[in-house]
Amino acid sequence: MRKAYFSSLVMVAALLVATIIGCSSDDPKQDYNPLIDDPKQPEQPAEPDDSPSGRSEQYRPQVHFTPAKNWMNDPNGMVYLDGTYHLFYQYNPQGNQWGNMSWGHATSTDLIHWTEQAVALTRDELGDIFSGSAVIDKDNTAGFGANAMVALYTSASGAQQQSLAYSTDGGKTFTRYAGNPVIKNDDDNLRDPKVFWHEQSGQWVMALAKGWKMGVEFYGSTDLKSWRHLSTFFMPLAGRPNLQWECPDLIPLNLNSQSSNLNSQKWVLLVSVNPGGPILGSGTMYFTGQFDGTTFTADDRDYPLWLDYGMDNYVGVTWSNTGNRKVMIGWMNNWQYAGDVPCSPWRSAMTLPRELTLTEYDGKPLLCSTVISEIDQIADAWQPVNFNSQTSNLNSTDAYQLRIKLSLDKNSTITLSNTNDERFTIDINAAARTLTAHRTAQSGKTSFNGTFSIPSMQAPLNVTGNSVTLDLFVDQSSVEIFTQEGTMSMTNLVFPQSIYNQLTVTGADHEAQVRQLKSIWK
Ligand code: FRU
Repeated sequence: MRKAYFSSLVMVAALLVATIIGCSSDDPKQDYNPLIDDPKQPEQPAEPDDSPSGRSEQYRPQVHFTPAKNWMNDPNGMVYLDGTYHLFYQYNPQGNQWGNMSWGHATSTDLIHWTEQAVALTRDELGDIFSGSAVIDKDNTAGFGANAMVALYTSASGAQQQSLAYSTDGGKTFTRYAGNPVIKNDDDNLRDPKVFWHEQSGQWVMALAKGWKMGVEFYGSTDLKSWRHLSTFFMPLAGRPNLQWECPDLIPLNLNSQSSNLNSQKWVLLVSVNPGGPILGSGTMYFTGQFDGTTFTADDRDYPLWLDYGMDNYVGVTWSNTGNRKVMIGWMNNWQYAGDVPCSPWRSAMTLPRELTLTEYDGKPLLCSTVISEIDQIADAWQPVNFNSQTSNLNSTDAYQLRIKLSLDKNSTITLSNTNDERFTIDINAAARTLTAHRTAQSGKTSFNGTFSIPSMQAPLNVTGNSVTLDLFVDQSSVEIFTQEGTMSMTNLVFPQSIYNQLTVTGADHEAQVRQLKSIWK
């Protein structure tokens, strides 16, 4: 792996501050310039080698997307067209560490089963292909043809500039626009364009993250090729003075609210930050507010608000062209240790896709996420969990969903374990209405990186009433926890020798059911 070093005083200062507050980042992207550091251009990738191993190695997720081999980070260019969901992603076609950044590509008709496609974009004379988005230009505003798929991405060399490429064969092949870059820039803190059509102002709007300079720039265009600056959004975050803002997404959501004081339509701005997430390293925050076609104005409330309270849900953004339905997928990893997770020949998985909704909680809009209902397609029937003995066998081999209803009159502890006595423990504090998960050295392999073991990570349950129902999605190397309504989510990687297939619940009255999830690769 190319180990890179901070070069500017600003970055050194940022690292010092981050280290002091316990948020050091082992981010291999610092100061890397592909055109200088690695001038050899990659060969054009061949068709993907889809299943060298049948995706059945130890730790290989069975119901989450992973590339057959090599490194993956951010989801990119997610767009729906003619019955197919496209998922592009930051990909190294040549190895399983970060580098040679390209857009890998996978497709699905149900957001659950994925087929890996040929790599879509590899770096060129403008630099690596960093994160970005894709839209369907149904009215041919750009002149590439009606319904062209237009990808906007960051060309990263020393500078981060915005470029575009288009496909007129449904995402199979892309042509780079001759006028690239479409937004010129001379520093390395402007990236990850997320573009959407804003009906009210009749224009395309692009959100761009400002990296270490923090904040989001908005640009507007009527043809996707020439862009004018609209506005800048920034909000200082208490206790988080120096971090990178990355991968923004601005989406409208209808607010499910009882109160007439709250507007029924809101705009939600997602921004991922690193280091400085809810616990350590990477995390995704959100702002609620209004967007008038020029400026995003955040509601006056305490920030940061977190999309997910675990360690491993980063840079999630939503699919384009899905109408009012907003489906997000995140990178299930953390820059804190992403290069060290014990996975080979692939490295990194995506989260399960999640539907985002906005609901009123405690008088304010709360962003909720639940696993998409398409998961039912790989689910067996629900079976009650038999609690006759203290520890119940869940009889799972690939993956499963567990639904546990707990009374909130007492504290409870949920333990997922396996026969090697590896365990992942979750405490529910009834009075405080919090959930605290423990990913300690007992959870499985943690020694690959000194920061992977996290003694406790806490989240508010955000439920009223006298019980809570939790949905847990457990795969070979992840545990995703949700309240049933999606008012809280917590996503974590774990590396037990074999899947946790035992459940113990102590404390308050409880009932549980489990359904097996069938591997998406078999
Ligand atoms: C976020 C990120 C993006 C960038 C990409 C490079 O994880 O740093 O800001 O475009 O990764 O791979």
